[in-house]
Amino acid sequence: MAIIKNIKAREILDSRGNPTVECDIYLDDNSFGRSSVPSGASTGMHEAIELRDNDKGRYGGKGVLKAISNILEIVAPKIINQSFDNFYDFDENLLSIDGTKNKSNLGANATLALSLAYAKALAFQKKEELFKYLSKDNNFVLPVPMMNIVNGGSHADNSVDIQEFMIAPIGAPNFSESIRYGCEIFHSLKSKLKSKGLNINVGDEGGFAPNINSSNEVIELIIEAVNSAGLSMNKDIVLSLDVASTEFYENSKYYLKGENKILSSDEMIEYLKALSSTYPIYSIEDGMSEDDWEGWENLTKEIGARTQLVGDDLFVTNIERLQEGINRKIANSILVKVNQIGTLSETLDAINLAKKNGYTNVISHRSGETEDTTIADLAVATAAGQIKTGSLSRTDRTSKYNQLLRIEEILGNEAKFAGRQIIRY
Ligand code: PGA
Ligand code: ZN
Repeated sequence: MAIIKNIKAREILDSRGNPTVECDIYLDDNSFGRSSVPSGASTGMHEAIELRDNDKGRYGGKGVLKAISNILEIVAPKIINQSFDNFYDFDENLLSIDGTKNKSNLGANATLALSLAYAKALAFQKKEELFKYLSKDNNFVLPVPMMNIVNGGSHADNSVDIQEFMIAPIGAPNFSESIRYGCEIFHSLKSKLKSKGLNINVGDEGGFAPNINSSNEVIELIIEAVNSAGLSMNKDIVLSLDVASTEFYENSKYYLKGENKILSSDEMIEYLKALSSTYPIYSIEDGMSEDDWEGWENLTKEIGARTQLVGDDLFVTNIERLQEGINRKIANSILVKVNQIGTLSETLDAINLAKKNGYTNVISHRSGETEDTTIADLAVATAAGQIKTGSLSRTDRTSKYNQLLRIEEILGNEAKFAGRQIIRY
């Protein structure tokens, strides 16, 4: 067991050019862990609190000096010269220092930075790769990447309603080939867009952000790009959507501005049903809004048997909300975002609760990211089977894929790729 000797915390920038928290923890044997915290744009209202300074004189109010001072002035004096049995104990101590349900005292950006840095320091101390250190049973699985090649919604300045159009290379023989499939499709899509006079600039998650009004048209273009890359739909590639519908839900209606449609909850379900029966879409995230539980129940009844229905804003990586969803038979999968809940151990609790109840896990980045690649290790360590970490461009996205490539190399012959087994039908 090692004693915490020093803690540093600083303001750094995320991929959107907003400040975020970075934290370093040193143990007395010079073991060291560093983490940095991502940040969402289409955040769920039930997420743990991300503490911002709201001082309009700095970074338009987005500074995180309060969260940093909470680390240095409130937490550090209580834990320096202390030791903990494991990161669960460390996190529990953090929760008791914070004392709130939603981390509003310290800020989830402060608690997550500490929690991840501490776990990394322990892995360093054990001279273990993070994915090995985090695993309970050494069942390492390389996830199928859901690659977000067209960005819309609040991640892009275009007329696409659905936030994320993703390709999942289920037919690739291994993880590195899945990256090659994704990349070749990404470049083929780029040429296709260009040849049609559409914009090839990218959105927050590195996917293209053309002005296209219809979701069907976006999907048709992606399918063309898959074929031009010499790959086949279903055999090699299936599609996945993050509708992020909370963003366009108001007064019990879904406002699809690009498509010029205002839909009731039932009509929204029909819309999703039509999309998923027309195209090979194996997974739909946040098809319904975070508090439209009845809509979620109906959607799950309608298409849950053959489609993975992922709760992001719905569950916010929170075991209480997930348990309620399980009780009400809502969705069949959870999106896992470390900063939605604010500690590593609570993240693992959510993953385990999902597994116990036959829900799948999709480990996820945020639209505002840093160079921290913890989620890559987390996906392998928990054998989640799926990761969503953006497109095949921009280092904030590719850094996670690159870490997975390194892990695949370390595992060598033992590397297993989740592949086709993630499909429900
Ligand atoms: P966010 O988007 O990080 O902006 O919340 C990601 C998602 O909705 O899955
Ligand atoms: Zn989402």
